[in-house]
Amino acid sequence: MPKITVDGKLIECKDRQVVLQACLDAGHPLPYYCYHPGLSIPASCRICLVEVEGIPKLVPSCQTVVRDGMVVHSRSPKAVANQKLVMEYLLINHPLDCPICDQAGECTLQDYSYQYGRSQSRFEEDKAKKPKKDVGDKILLYSDRCIMCTRCVRFTREISGTGELYVDGRGYREEIDIFPGKPCNNKLAGNVVDLCPVGALLDKDFLFKQRVWLLTRTESISPVDSGGENIYLEHNEGIVYRIKPRENPQVNQWWISDDTRYSYKVLTEAKRLKKAMVLRSGGAAEAEADAAVAAAVARLRALAAESPGCLYAVLSPMMACEEAFLLASAIRAIDSQAVLVLGPVPTSGKDEVFKNPITGQQTFVIKAEKVPNAAGVRRVLALLGGRAATWDDLAAAARPEVKNLKGGWIVGGYHSNWISGEIPAIIKSGFKVVQDLLPTPLGAAADVLLPAAAWAEKDGCWENYAGQIQPFEAAVPPPEGVMRDGQIYLSLLDRRGQYNAQLVRREMGEPFASVQATSRLVQSPATEFVPL
Ligand code: SF4
Ligand code: FES
Repeated sequence: MPKITVDGKLIECKDRQVVLQACLDAGHPLPYYCYHPGLSIPASCRICLVEVEGIPKLVPSCQTVVRDGMVVHSRSPKAVANQKLVMEYLLINHPLDCPICDQAGECTLQDYSYQYGRSQSRFEEDKAKKPKKDVGDKILLYSDRCIMCTRCVRFTREISGTGELYVDGRGYREEIDIFPGKPCNNKLAGNVVDLCPVGALLDKDFLFKQRVWLLTRTESISPVDSGGENIYLEHNEGIVYRIKPRENPQVNQWWISDDTRYSYKVLTEAKRLKKAMVLRSGGAAEAEADAAVAAAVARLRALAAESPGCLYAVLSPMMACEEAFLLASAIRAIDSQAVLVLGPVPTSGKDEVFKNPITGQQTFVIKAEKVPNAAGVRRVLALLGGRAATWDDLAAAARPEVKNLKGGWIVGGYHSNWISGEIPAIIKSGFKVVQDLLPTPLGAAADVLLPAAAWAEKDGCWENYAGQIQPFEAAVPPPEGVMRDGQIYLSLLDRRGQYNAQLVRREMGEPFASVQATSRLVQSPATEFVPL
């Protein structure tokens, strides 16, 4: 591995790495704008220029590949003079609107102007005025804040492959624009907002909602499909305001889909279930969550005592693996012959594959399977063994295991109505506890209806389509009156104490026991779940 010296510090680098990336990896910051590790390298902004001993001119650190023994100076008078000049040039036409700019607090132009900027402008002419443009359903462009790094343009050319953005004009008149009638609405479009180092490209959804320094970041995983995109939930005072990508080279690299980006909306969905309901002789009545759980358990116990083997639990692929394990264990504790059922696994068409049109290389995939944890629930079912089935088996009611079912616990948690068509007759006719996020026809027919917590409100882990098991953390509390699902299942098992995902994983054994409450993922061999 090559070693270079930067500002007197010895840095170990990867082969073929550029100087800038080697410095960033080693925690030695250099300023940069146009460079992004996921995009091509135009070396156009010139702020990253450094002195390399033996080379008479300054060289762009973002484009210069490391050589063993290379000696680099990023803080020499010549390098710093260049950084100051670039900053002065970029600020000539930049408006002084940081107080009302959404990017303030996470803007590298703002940060570097503190480090390298002049306190007073020497520019006496009028600043170039450029328009605000609507460049997509979700994206606004404040042209006068743009520093022409072209990251956004390169993203639409090299990653989404859709090429909606381009540079129009020359010199101080140049502007980012879209082609007429072709807005930037591709399914990865929101990434251009993340890429923009200044407040030029902004997300309409987040516009003027929060100052970024008020937000807390929590590591999480996308709930919208089986890809397992790594994300940050950014929240303040119990409300999630936006979702940002979390870099993971083994899963989603630096990008997320727009479906993931806006998936937090379900948390504040007006129709969300917040009250437990119990069906009584006069109809469904509101109840406290713990009283509703107690009523449900009493009835399930009575049914199991009357006819052993008549209970079932539908484990949703929206559940955390830990929750699926606890609920399945609880139902089996009531009825050791209970049937464990994998809930519906919705799909939409085929995987959407994005490619770089120039190299033909695959850059991103949006999975067709629209749930995050079908693989994890299958693994839990395989772990627990015994009688198992799928939702289709319940609907068809053809197999002997499901013919005599009389009562069960059904978990939904999907982000839209998941009951397509008729409620399976075997469910309709029996006693049913339904735990869900949103109202569905099944919830309306439930004997006991329990509101569920959403993924952002609880801890757990999900396994994606590739067998990668990844943890996620609670960012915000569930709405008032909603108990976290894991806590309910502990009470079903008559266990005291707080639900703790890590402890449950230890109980589940490998590979779950190796999943830590951090961003590390555990790669597992495929599991075989065969319904009996
Ligand atoms: S809009 Fe942002 S990302 Fe695009 S070129 Fe301008 S500064 Fe760069
Ligand atoms: S980051 Fe190197 S020239 Fe822009």
